[in-house]
Amino acid sequence: MSQHRVAYLPGDGIGPEVCDVARRVVDAAGARFGFEVTWHEQPVGGAAIDADGAPLPTSTLDACRRADAVMLGAVGGPRWDDPTASSRPEDALLALRSELELFANLRPVRAYDALASASPLRPEVRAGADLLILRELTGGLYFGRPQGRATDGGVESAVDTLRYSRPEIERIVELGFQLAEDRRGHLTSVDKANVLASSRLWRQVVDEMARRFPGVRTEHALVDSTAYLLLTQPTHYDVIVTENLFGDILSDEAAAISGSLGLMASASLGTRTTPKGRFGLYEPVHGSAPSIAGQGVANPLATIASAAMLLRWSLGEGPAADAVEAAVEGAIEDGPRTGDLGGSDGTEAVAEFVLARIGHAMEVPA
Ligand code: NAD
Ligand code: IPM
Ligand code: MN
Repeated sequence: MSQHRVAYLPGDGIGPEVCDVARRVVDAAGARFGFEVTWHEQPVGGAAIDADGAPLPTSTLDACRRADAVMLGAVGGPRWDDPTASSRPEDALLALRSELELFANLRPVRAYDALASASPLRPEVRAGADLLILRELTGGLYFGRPQGRATDGGVESAVDTLRYSRPEIERIVELGFQLAEDRRGHLTSVDKANVLASSRLWRQVVDEMARRFPGVRTEHALVDSTAYLLLTQPTHYDVIVTENLFGDILSDEAAAISGSLGLMASASLGTRTTPKGRFGLYEPVHGSAPSIAGQGVANPLATIASAAMLLRWSLGEGPAADAVEAAVEGAIEDGPRTGDLGGSDGTEAVAEFVLARIGHAMEVPA
C-alpha cells in the first residue's frame, strides 16, 4: 500500500471545520484505492499566533517541507485584525507561498446547471462556463520591496511595490500556455498594460512565448474590462493567466459564476517535484468566514475539491482524484445544500453525502 505524507494546517474560523471533512474524504478514497495518508497537523495563522506567538512557526514550515503536499483551511479573523499589530495571520500564507516557491495558483470555475438558482447570473449567461484562473502567487504587490510605512516631515505615508522579473513572468505564463493546450486552447492574459510598466513587460513575455505554442489562441485583456466581461460573458474564457493581486480579485468575483465562494478550490504548485508528482499546497479560495465559524454550516465542497487536486497533482492518485471529483459533482447535482447555496443543510450532511459517494463506510468524527 502506498504511503503519503501530508502537512495538515487547519488554521482559523471555518478552516478546521472544512479541513476535517476533506481529510475524512481523502482517507475514504485511500481505503478504496489502496493508499494511506499520514496527516501531520500543525498550527498556522491566528491559531499559531495564540499558541506560539508567530503565524508560521518554524516547526510548521519544516513539516511542510518534509511533506508530499500541504492541506490548509484558512487563516485570519477579527481577533487579529489590529492594523498596528507587528504580525498578522495572513503573513503565514505569504511566507508559505514564498518559502515553498508556490508560484502557480490554479483556481478552476464551473457553472453547474444544478446551481443555476444559486448564481446571480442569468442561466443563459452562465450556462456552460468552465474556466481556469491561473494566478501568479509569489510576486507583484504582495512581495515587492519597499513595503511599509514611513513618516516624512510629520506626514505619514505607506508604500507597496509592484515588481516582476522576466523569469517570474516566464514560468507562470509558460504554465498558462501548457494548461491551455490541455484544455480548449485559449489563453487570456490579463494585465493593466495601459498604465503599469510591469504589465507591459508581462505582455511582451506573453507575445514572445506565444510563438512556441501555435496551437493556443492567445489574447491580451485589461483587468478592468475583464472584471466586467467575466460576469457578462463568462463562457468566453478558458484559461486566464494574471498577476497576483488581479488573480486574487478576479477569482473571488468568478465565484459568482459558479454560485458560491464555498465551491472554489485551489492548488498552489511549486517548483519542487517528488517521485509522486509536484509538491503543492491546497486550500479553498475562501477565507475563515468568521461570521459562520463554529456553527457547522460552512460549505466544505471547496476544500474537498482542493483535496482532489492534491490527490491528482501531488500524490499521483489520479483514480482517487476522479472519484472525489465525481462525488463533489454528485453533491452539486443532487446533494444537500448549505446556506451559501440557498439551502439549510449543515457541513456534516454534505460530508456524509460525499463519503457515501466515495463508497466507503464513514468514520464517525470523535
Ligand atoms: P471569506 O472568504 O472568509 O468570506 C466571504 C463571504 O463568503 C462571507 O459571507 C462568508 O460567510 C462566505 N463564505 C466563505 N466561505 C464559505 C463557505 N465555505 N461556506 C459558506 N460560506 C462561506 O472572506 P472575508 O470575510 O473577506 O475574510 C475573512 C478572513 O479570512 C480575513 O481575515 C481574511 O484575511 C481571511 N482570508 C483568508 C484566506 C485564506 O486563508 N486562504 C482567504 C481569504 C480571506
Ligand atoms: C487568497 C487570500 C489571501 C491572498 C490572503 C488571505 C493573504 O485572499 O488566498 O485569495 O490575498 O492571497
Ligand atoms: Mn483572496
